[in-house]
Amino acid sequence: MRILICYATTEGQTRKICRFVADHLMDNGHSVELLSADDGLDEASELDLNRFDAAVLAGSVHVGKVQRALIEFASELTDGFREMPVLYLQVSLAAAGKDAEERAELARIAEETVAAFGWTPAKVLQVAGAFRFSEYDFFKAWAMRWIASQHGQTVAHGEDREYTDWRALAADVDAWAEAAAMSR
Ligand SMILES: Cc1cc2nc3c(=O)[nH]c(=O)nc-3n(C[C@H](O)[C@H](O)[C@H](O)COP(=O)(O)O)c2cc1C
Repeated sequence: MRILICYATTEGQTRKICRFVADHLMDNGHSVELLSADDGLDEASELDLNRFDAAVLAGSVHVGKVQRALIEFASELTDGFREMPVLYLQVSLAAAGKDAEERAELARIAEETVAAFGWTPAKVLQVAGAFRFSEYDFFKAWAMRWIASQHGQTVAHGEDREYTDWRALAADVDAWAEAAAMSR
């Protein structure tokens, strides 16, 4: 299949996740175009979604919200996305845990985000992200250290800690791609 991947990232983990997904799909014989939502927004009016059979959109959660750029990109191209199987990856730290309340909150954020897209993805996947203390300014580092401590984690100064389960992600992407190919 010809697959468009468009992501928004604040500290870089969603970009890393989308590069991994792109490599994985290409290894399996698909052709992939990888786009940042920030760049994609300028191109959205010129982007011909008829060139693609399927798409992966991805964004990360910051204080209960996903990047505006992703929502604008997704809603700009409503007609095209409505016609194709789309996998939406929502990256967060809460997805790394099993807390029922936090999981319900992630589901609510995904629902709100998808409503703002104006169309419904074929599949929504919650993906665990990372602490990236190497990217945080003083206040973010302070807030994130507090969040880590609330979850019984201590992260050393300047340390990055990744929770993304690459193997599970690859399996989920494979399952989606198989269903997407069959639905064409
Ligand atoms: C300021 C800030 C706020 C965050 N808010 C949330 C949140 O509300 N819920 C959550 O599960 N994760 C939250 N996170 C964690 C991010 O979703 C996680 O670090 C993710 O990997 C970021 O992806 P990115 O590097 O692609 O931006 C927050 C992170 C930062 C730095």
